[in-house]
Amino acid sequence: MSERKRYVLAGTGGRGLYMFAKPLLKTFTKHCELVGLFDHNPERIAAANDLLGAKLPGFTDFKEMLRAANPDAVIISTRDSTHAEYIIKTLEAGKRAISEKPLCVDGKQAREILAAAKKAKRKGAVCYVTHNMRYGPAISEFKRQLEAGVIGDVKSVNFHENLDRKHGADYFRRWHRVKKNSGGLLIHKASHHFDALNWLIGSNPDQLVAQGATVFYGKNGPFRHTRCEGCPHASKCDFYAEMWSNETNRKLYKEAEKSDGYIRDGCVFDKEIDIEDQSGVLYTYKNGVRVVYSLTAFATYEGWHIQFEGTKGRLELKEVHDTKWAAGNITVHGMEKAVGQSLTLFSQKEGLKLLPIPEAEGSHGGADPQIQHDFFGRPFGSPPTPRMAPLDQAVQAILIGHAANVSMAQGSKMVKVQEFLKRG
Ligand SMILES: NC(=O)c1ccc[n+]([C@@H]2O[C@H](COP(=O)([O-])OP(=O)(O)OC[C@H]3O[C@@H](n4cnc5c(N)ncnc54)[C@H](O)[C@@H]3O)[C@@H](O)[C@H]2O)c1
Repeated sequence: MSERKRYVLAGTGGRGLYMFAKPLLKTFTKHCELVGLFDHNPERIAAANDLLGAKLPGFTDFKEMLRAANPDAVIISTRDSTHAEYIIKTLEAGKRAISEKPLCVDGKQAREILAAAKKAKRKGAVCYVTHNMRYGPAISEFKRQLEAGVIGDVKSVNFHENLDRKHGADYFRRWHRVKKNSGGLLIHKASHHFDALNWLIGSNPDQLVAQGATVFYGKNGPFRHTRCEGCPHASKCDFYAEMWSNETNRKLYKEAEKSDGYIRDGCVFDKEIDIEDQSGVLYTYKNGVRVVYSLTAFATYEGWHIQFEGTKGRLELKEVHDTKWAAGNITVHGMEKAVGQSLTLFSQKEGLKLLPIPEAEGSHGGADPQIQHDFFGRPFGSPPTPRMAPLDQAVQAILIGHAANVSMAQGSKMVKVQEFLKRG
């Protein structure tokens, strides 16, 4: 049996708990040992231990955690704007940093992480980002088809992301809704999509122009309160959500909110909201591929539509997602009939073909168990697989969103994406 490596989870919110802590304790025990929990909120650490049925040592001081728990790797699943600080501290200590997406929220943080990683290389410390979209069965099949050359050379791409009024609204209930916390949805959410596009297209972004606005949530609402709990508008609000009957929400958020004031059921019409709920990015890749990307966070239904046009044909992936799991009541009656995915090849030579998508079980369409296996189901020293996103690729994923934020702030000015590796 190979040596078990020591892991600490930083950020004991919902994602950290169920994507990392629970599987490390229950499934990946051959190569991994979870030796501690770090969070700035001690009550959330206690709630996490309770939900896990564990008694892991908890830390609210990162330096003290590194000293006392002496981990081999730190998994960073805190609020996006704090990833950079903990990645850098982890690398400086010579440990492996495994961060949730997005790597960070702007170009400056990306440059700081790159500088820390350069120094840490001598100590053998590296950083990966868990870009799980790469692991989805449909996207994996999409890549296989592109590599087989079924549409020839890719020339242009349309990617349309629709987040509905349950899942999409959730980004406007909590910290994500403020740009300094999340970088906005073109970083927080679209880093998934930009990473997948970089990976599928096999090139880095060159120049872009972006537009975006908040046209549905925030100040656009007909009324507002601080939160759903105790809201005087509850009976007439489409977005009213009662969250505390769910044990995880109650323990992790409601009971722990006293310590840090993190309100999980914030009003989607709060005027503090400064992230866009609709945005569009036009950009090109160094290899000439041209992309039209759009993100709508108040869509009537959830899913994405990805279309690659090549010299010999067109490949399209369409997914409509069920978001029953998300808080809220807004659904289109009969929508379940539309839920599903299809991968279609339109080939000049072979005609129209519906391509089979392999079945997979688990969260995020079966992507999460596969990424967990790559990171935790193999010995620590195993060579990285091509789907594990290394730091330079994770930087490229957030660089597009950062460049889009800069473009939007400058009245949709055309910007050079790679310039942000140097400044801005
Ligand atoms: N890959 C995916 O599909 C996916 C899905 C969901 C979330 N995520 C990412 O996972 C991370 C966590 O998301 P979540 O939904 O669990 O959020 P969350 O709000 O539930 O959890 C965030 C945790 O960070 C802690 N925290 C906040 N500021 C901190 C600080 N300064 N220092 C230490 N701890 C701090 C909070 O107390 C909380 O426990 C985010 O980066 C998010 O983007 C990724």
